[in-house]
Amino acid sequence: MTLPVRAIGTPLDRFDGPAKVTGTARYAFEHPVDRPAYLFPVQATVAVGRIVAVHTEPASREPGVLAVLTPENAPRVASFDDPEVVILQNHEVAYRGQFVAAAVAETSEAARRAAELVRVDYQAGPHDVELRADHPDRYAPEVMNGGFATDSLRGNPEAALADAAVRLDATYTTPWYQHAQLEPHSTIARWADGRLTLHVASQGVHRLRESLATLFGLDPERIRVISPHVGGAFGGKLHTHPDVVLAVLGALAVPGRPVKLALTRQQMFSQVGYRTPTVQRVRLGAGPDGRLVAVSHEVVQQTARHKEFAEQTATPTRVMYAAPHRSTTHRLVRLDVPVPTIMRAPGKTPGMYALESAMDEMAIACGQDPVEFRIANEPPLDPELDRPFSTRNLVGCLRDGARRFGWAGRDPTPGVRRAAGGWLVGTGVAASMYPVYRLPGSSATIRLEPDGRYTVSIGAADLGTGTWTALTQVAADALGVLVDRIVLRIGDTDLPAAMAAGGSSGMTSWGSAVVEAAGRLRARLAAEQHDPVPADGIEASAEMPPNPHREHFSMYAFGAQFAEVRVHEATGEVRVPRLLGVFAAGRIINPKTGRSQLLGGMTMGLSMALHERCVLDPRFGHVVNHDLAEYHIATNADVGRVEVHTLVEDDPYVNPMGSKGIGELGIVGTAAAIANAVQHATGVRVRDLPITPDRFF
Ligand code: MOS
Repeated sequence: MTLPVRAIGTPLDRFDGPAKVTGTARYAFEHPVDRPAYLFPVQATVAVGRIVAVHTEPASREPGVLAVLTPENAPRVASFDDPEVVILQNHEVAYRGQFVAAAVAETSEAARRAAELVRVDYQAGPHDVELRADHPDRYAPEVMNGGFATDSLRGNPEAALADAAVRLDATYTTPWYQHAQLEPHSTIARWADGRLTLHVASQGVHRLRESLATLFGLDPERIRVISPHVGGAFGGKLHTHPDVVLAVLGALAVPGRPVKLALTRQQMFSQVGYRTPTVQRVRLGAGPDGRLVAVSHEVVQQTARHKEFAEQTATPTRVMYAAPHRSTTHRLVRLDVPVPTIMRAPGKTPGMYALESAMDEMAIACGQDPVEFRIANEPPLDPELDRPFSTRNLVGCLRDGARRFGWAGRDPTPGVRRAAGGWLVGTGVAASMYPVYRLPGSSATIRLEPDGRYTVSIGAADLGTGTWTALTQVAADALGVLVDRIVLRIGDTDLPAAMAAGGSSGMTSWGSAVVEAAGRLRARLAAEQHDPVPADGIEASAEMPPNPHREHFSMYAFGAQFAEVRVHEATGEVRVPRLLGVFAAGRIINPKTGRSQLLGGMTMGLSMALHERCVLDPRFGHVVNHDLAEYHIATNADVGRVEVHTLVEDDPYVNPMGSKGIGELGIVGTAAAIANAVQHATGVRVRDLPITPDRFF
């Protein structure tokens, strides 16, 4: 194969693809280690309570059992700052399923058998696990995920809404969505010679190392985290969860032995985080011309009693549409549940379901086409910060999508199109958006080797997204060489520190560091004589520089999502034969892996719209549908044609590559496009996800 001189923009196959499809790429649990021991957790059977006694006697007598860890004998932690990961340190139970003990044994079967023999006595207390919008204890959090303000207010939305010619006041709900990566959370931990070595499925090795160093009071230099391949993450493998900590406790209990822990699918439903359920009231007011005068978005959602997580659900409403009067609020309810966490486009995904459903309802109320209604309310500047967007091509996405989808001439009348077999047919549209984040703390080292290749080292992560390939393309262009001269090393704390993969900021943060290091190396090579290259090579390092344009522009990627649905008149079954997305996300580094990212996001949005929902049993406080047989995720048969298009967008302000993040953009808006199409098909406005058959009868 001839490689192009300019790698960015080329649809290269992923370099790690052959290793993955032939099974030779090693995931965390598969790493070969000497004399592994296996850990199996014991989980709390009450949602609130106190552990009165832990009976370990029969368990520790089982053949092959090396240790039975309990709150009495488990190794102690040094920091109590993150209550989510302070496990086996006290006798309090904060949620059902919490780890309260564990067995370590020679085989996984023996560990599981021993864990089942551990008996725990509790003094149970009353629990509260149900989110209600009118919960008397709801409160305004001080700190929101992502650093956003809890509330925003401009003008007088209450008065403007009261005076508006056209008004909408609607409440939308989204359920509890569980992280369900293909690769369950897994860890191998080994404690030997005062050093901790971990193979973990992680979105960021340096971030994980820092959190464990703090928790266990260890010098970070004594911890090494290795994570070259990750089988899906979506935010669930970014923050440190109890599973890694339990594996470390196990390793400390049996020094020298590598301790392996892979969560079962059922354990994941209480251990690795989830997207909070939301109750969202959206009020829109418009003049007789269909121009918005007021936008209000009030969110109630849950957090855990033992640790706060506040999702930024209404924040897209601060950016999307022009209106002089506007407000957003976030309120939390503390419940006796596991801690919610980030999940693909946290905040934006549930928030844009509500806002973009409301925009569809408002377009209908104003007698306008939903594409034209959005375009008419396009803000010339960021509507709350009064500054320009670096680039904003929502209108371009809507127009291009409408053309490709065949939107022109659409009859807005609901419930009148029929296809053979008793199906009602409808089409819908929604907008998508995602911020361009840039997280500090990434550095890269590039070394020119004597053989003429360049070793590029950075503690970045490839979650299955194609980072390995795309970042190699960035390095090749920055060094002015072909990609086959680049050897990229990622996923190891022995490499230069890098930010975790989060907020779709990986390419911006790591790519900027790589470009900076490449510039330094090229300058060094130009200034010095190196012929031949010495045996230990010539290297240069750099940190990601700050972006001088950051304060002057609002930076977002945008998109338009179109959906065609069929709803069966007799059964209420919803099918989505066609999704079409057009996205403006700056320069696409690798159109092949980039398309997969957007397509995957849209598919996850379809899954959110029609299938996914955790069902809680309020009597006990746990998710009852805690496996992939009952927690439904869209399968191949649920997904029809999915088209992904990107607009050419030249943004000189975001970063040296001109790229915006695409890992999360594709999921935002999809559920609203489907819900809007369902309304067009049936005349029924579903304001509560998922759109299951019972919503129609
Ligand atoms: Mo993503 S939810 O920011 O890992």
